[in-house]
Amino acid sequence: MTDQNKLFITSALPYANGALHLGHMLEHTQSDIWARVNRSLGREVRFLCAEDAHGAPIMLRAEKEGVSPEEFVEGTRKEHWHVLQGFNISYDHYHTTHSKENQFMVNKIYNRLKANGHIETKVVEQLFDPEKKMFLADRFIKGECPKCGAEDQYGDNCEVCAATYNATDVINPRSVISGATPVIKESLHYFVNLKNFEDMLQDWMNKGALQDQVINKLKEWFEAGLQSWDISRDSPYFGFKIPDTEDKYFYVWLDAPVGYLGCLKYVCEQNGEDLEDWIAPDASTEMVHFVGKDILYFHSLFWPAMLHGSGIKVPDSVFVHGFVTVNGKKMSKSRGTFINASTYLKYFQPDYLRYYYAAKLSDKIVDLDLNLEDFVTKVNSDLVGKIVNIASRCAGFINKKFAGKLSSELHNPELYQQFVDSSTEISDLFIARKYSAAIRIIMALADNANQYISDMAPWQAIKDEGRQLEVHQVCSSGINLFRILITWLAPVVPDTAKKAAAFLNTELNDWNSIQLPLLNHEINKFKPLITRIEMKTVDLMIEDSKEDLQSLDEQQPELTGPLTDDPISAEINFDDFAKIDLRVVKIIDAQHVKGADKLLQLTLDLGGLQKNVFAGIKSAYKPEDLIGKNTVMVANLAPRKMRFGLSEGMVLSAGPGAKDIYILEPNDGAQPGMRVK
Ligand code: MSP
Ligand code: ZN
Repeated sequence: MTDQNKLFITSALPYANGALHLGHMLEHTQSDIWARVNRSLGREVRFLCAEDAHGAPIMLRAEKEGVSPEEFVEGTRKEHWHVLQGFNISYDHYHTTHSKENQFMVNKIYNRLKANGHIETKVVEQLFDPEKKMFLADRFIKGECPKCGAEDQYGDNCEVCAATYNATDVINPRSVISGATPVIKESLHYFVNLKNFEDMLQDWMNKGALQDQVINKLKEWFEAGLQSWDISRDSPYFGFKIPDTEDKYFYVWLDAPVGYLGCLKYVCEQNGEDLEDWIAPDASTEMVHFVGKDILYFHSLFWPAMLHGSGIKVPDSVFVHGFVTVNGKKMSKSRGTFINASTYLKYFQPDYLRYYYAAKLSDKIVDLDLNLEDFVTKVNSDLVGKIVNIASRCAGFINKKFAGKLSSELHNPELYQQFVDSSTEISDLFIARKYSAAIRIIMALADNANQYISDMAPWQAIKDEGRQLEVHQVCSSGINLFRILITWLAPVVPDTAKKAAAFLNTELNDWNSIQLPLLNHEINKFKPLITRIEMKTVDLMIEDSKEDLQSLDEQQPELTGPLTDDPISAEINFDDFAKIDLRVVKIIDAQHVKGADKLLQLTLDLGGLQKNVFAGIKSAYKPEDLIGKNTVMVANLAPRKMRFGLSEGMVLSAGPGAKDIYILEPNDGAQPGMRVK
């Protein structure tokens, strides 16, 4: 750690085109705990984040919703900020990259990079959608893999053979946006010459502030050779225009990290501070970014290079974390484990998850498993069973027998001192982002405190007239130990700490205040600070998350993976089974669905009656091959509103996924409308 007192902390800026989920919350929780510990230690903190507003996906999403991109982004910004506050994430400000402050900083950085000779231009060939009249990023192209011929692969890599390739090499490419066949078109692009920064990046890497795994990644990238970075995109694009160009825009990944500084600039203006005091190359400040492992490249190569090349101080650290899994697997919409942050807040207080994450977080880039059974057990046994228990065992006596006032001396000052002596070790562990290690020490000390109270058994002693002073001092010791524990935990469980502060009648936001115990101090009536949670509430949250599904189309990707490790669903009895009305139907029409990757729209003849069904079988069948075939459908499934229209049933198919999905094809005189028995 440095001795600098001013600290500028950021989390990665969430994309404006999706809801925040419990994966995102790991990062916001990790950075928030760090910001709060630093504040408690007396450092001057600016803890900032913003909405990542720009890029083609957001532009297209806004278009689909029929609003301007500005309106769309402002809508999600408000939503995200509301949820973040719901989790008590203490950002000093939550900005947007689509702001005048950011545009100012982007232009300034670009102009300096250009003046310093780091910008070059080159004509590149790219796929262009002639209908939509826009260049297509790789993810907007699909076609056959040039290596193995697999159909329906994205423009940059093949999910079947894992090959990576250029979008221009894809066979029979089509635009995901319009379905049109793209053409190759030339365009002038702007690049940052990253090679110019190799020495500087090596120095930065060797300063020792990065995690070992990050350093290893950087070494790999140096070895592979640094490529120039394409920072321009052609119109139409939602972003900032590149100065002195007609219709070129900055690529979203250029202006996104600059958004950290855009937000800082805004805050400086609000506070009447000089931004230069924070970001000049020699500024005595510390600048750290919390990011996930997927965006390491941007933060450890491009970002420091851009800053250095434009005369701004480089990050002091980039803290990288792994990904959240739920019950040992990738978060999944069909399993209900893709849990939105707002859904969680409908069922639980933020402190439970904050505590669970803290208890498992280390400074390593490893994935963190949110095991839901363990979550319930751990928060109940630690927060309720250990921490709050100390206060609840002692408070009653102080309130009822001693007029709500703590004694003038502690019964066991040695134990109090033992706690105080651990304080630096605990703050050091938090600062080193070894949260789980810090929590382990705190909980071990909580065990000591509980043991002490059990040994003293004030509920026995109180019966003895001669031991009243002892009870007063024992319970006052217990309350004082509780105060220390909750001061250490306040950055992790701020809501609980706030209630504890009201009960203790003192602030809990100063790490050093615990040096001295509270003596002769009046406390308030004890109210339960946090209650036990139950697995059945978790189950409700999971059910609710299943309903978060927007359409079958978004559900499909998981159906293509191996399902062998999935438990069999709960048993149903014969009556349940008999309710399913299976009918033979003839497919009289089959069409592609605009904007859907997996779906075909089927018109089914049920013996005179027609039904419209969206089926996730596009990876396996061409529409024209289906027309005229018989299949089996669940005819009495309640209609379901999907993004693309109403689906009035389900056709039956099976298989491991991708091209291997087989619809049921009854033959031998099967007539549409016939019941399948
Ligand atoms: N907009 C970019 C970041 C720009 S920063 C200048 C972005 N946005 S994101 O919404 O996709 O991700 C935001 C952060 O959340 C990233 O750090 C990402 O690693 C993190 N996470 C997204 N899903 C996650 C999990 N499942 N688990 C843990 N963190 C995850 O990337
Ligand atoms: Zn392939």
